[in-house]
Amino acid sequence: MALPCIEPRTSKKKYKMVKSLSQLKVKIFADGANIDSIKSMSKLSYIKGFTTNPTLMKKSNIKDYKDFALEALKIVQNKPISFEVFADEIDEMENQAREINSWGKNIFIKIPVTNTKGESTANLISKLSNSGIFCNVTAIFTKEQIFKIIEKINIDSKMILSVFAGRIADSGIDPVPVMQDIIYTLRDYKNIELLWASPRELLNIFQADQVGCHIITVADDLLKKLNNIGKDLNEFSLETVSMFYNDAQAAGYKINSNLTNKKNFN
Ligand code: E4P
Repeated sequence: MALPCIEPRTSKKKYKMVKSLSQLKVKIFADGANIDSIKSMSKLSYIKGFTTNPTLMKKSNIKDYKDFALEALKIVQNKPISFEVFADEIDEMENQAREINSWGKNIFIKIPVTNTKGESTANLISKLSNSGIFCNVTAIFTKEQIFKIIEKINIDSKMILSVFAGRIADSGIDPVPVMQDIIYTLRDYKNIELLWASPRELLNIFQADQVGCHIITVADDLLKKLNNIGKDLNEFSLETVSMFYNDAQAAGYKINSNLTNKKNFN
């Protein structure tokens, strides 16, 4: 049976060029808990804010929450920075939120969308935002979770909603239509910013921009790839080939073979 003929793509076809960083509307935040990296990122004009979380803090071997936060706040004074509460009881979350908020003027308090028992934090978020605290609601995965929050808050509340697009993608679901849908849901909430959390590849920055997300938070590993934007793919290919070659050389790999040119795959 003859195989269906697939039309070859013409070699003249151009790939769509991505926008350069300066053309992006989406704000890039730096996600992490490494003080040296926060220091260098704070000098970059395209880094518009910072986020952290307890997992990133643990990874950076942070021992004292408050010492770390105060040090970060000394460096980041004119850009928003988010610190997350880590209590599991709603009352205790509130105490932590109020305490952390007293450490600076540019703080967003990260409140997980539920506690570990799955109890919604929507009432707490509404209470905190009514008292003038800027919340960054974190670990959001669904539109329903967003409905629960926005039905409880004042339409003027300033807040960030962090939707874990990358983790949604990790479950096999395309996050782009999910984010598009959420942007539509939030169309009347002019003070709410949608944050694309947990990006997995550089392309996500452009996807976040295209769907109209206000912010994307990007960890160090991915930020290092910003230099790749607009890179010539042939040059990129050559670099990749050289990487394989150099690593094999550095590892000292050798194959000693007695075979003469005989091939036998049967
Ligand atoms: C957002 O603020 C989070 O810190 C972050 O994006 C989590 O990403 P992860 O899924 O890579 O842990």
